[in-house]
Amino acid sequence: MREECIIINNIHKSFDDVKVINDVTLNILQGQIVGFIGPNGSGKSTMINIICGMIPSDSGQGFCMGYDISTEQAYIKKNVGYMTQYFTLWESLTVLENLVFIGKMRNVRKFDAESEKLIIRLGLERFRNTLAKNLSGGWKQKLSLACAIIHRPKILFLDEPTASINPLARKEF
Ligand SMILES: Nc1ncnc2c1ncn2[C@@H]1O[C@H](COP(=O)(O)OP(=O)(O)OP(=O)(O)O)[C@@H](O)[C@H]1O
Ligand SMILES: [Mg+2]
Repeated sequence: MREECIIINNIHKSFDDVKVINDVTLNILQGQIVGFIGPNGSGKSTMINIICGMIPSDSGQGFCMGYDISTEQAYIKKNVGYMTQYFTLWESLTVLENLVFIGKMRNVRKFDAESEKLIIRLGLERFRNTLAKNLSGGWKQKLSLACAIIHRPKILFLDEPTASINPLARKEF
């Protein structure tokens, strides 16, 4: 039987008295792929941030890989990969430099070799030495994905990974 890897019970979250998350309960099993669907501003990104321990909920409780989302955020951050909705890497570093930097921050043992492997895996070879700010939107998304998985996370969060990229690239993604 597959284990539960995300358990969320009765989570609430408001920003300035506006209720964004209203009593969300979720049980996600190992190996499951789950999507949040909702209009702009419906709280999808906020929910991801709460599950990862990036922001606190107002009430309710949750566990991500067995770690409490309100007290054990450091363990959660170590074990998840998070591709954010908007590009949050270093514009003034190259593709390779971004990967190496994240690899070192994530304590990846062979960060140089892992970076090179990911460049090949995502077809980024010709942009290896290109500054991130000069990449097109779709290639930025690929770099973001590579950086989100360099430490081989147990759970991968993708926040609208294919928004604004063309249908072919979307399919490939
Ligand atoms: N740090 C914050 N401070 C104040 N309000 C916030 C904050 N973060 C999010 N919000 C508000 O919470 C609501 C939900 O935002 P969120 O980004 O989670 O929605 P979303 O479903 O991911 O939207 P989108 O589809 O546009 O990405 C929005 O009204 C947003 O303005
Ligand atoms: Mg969002």
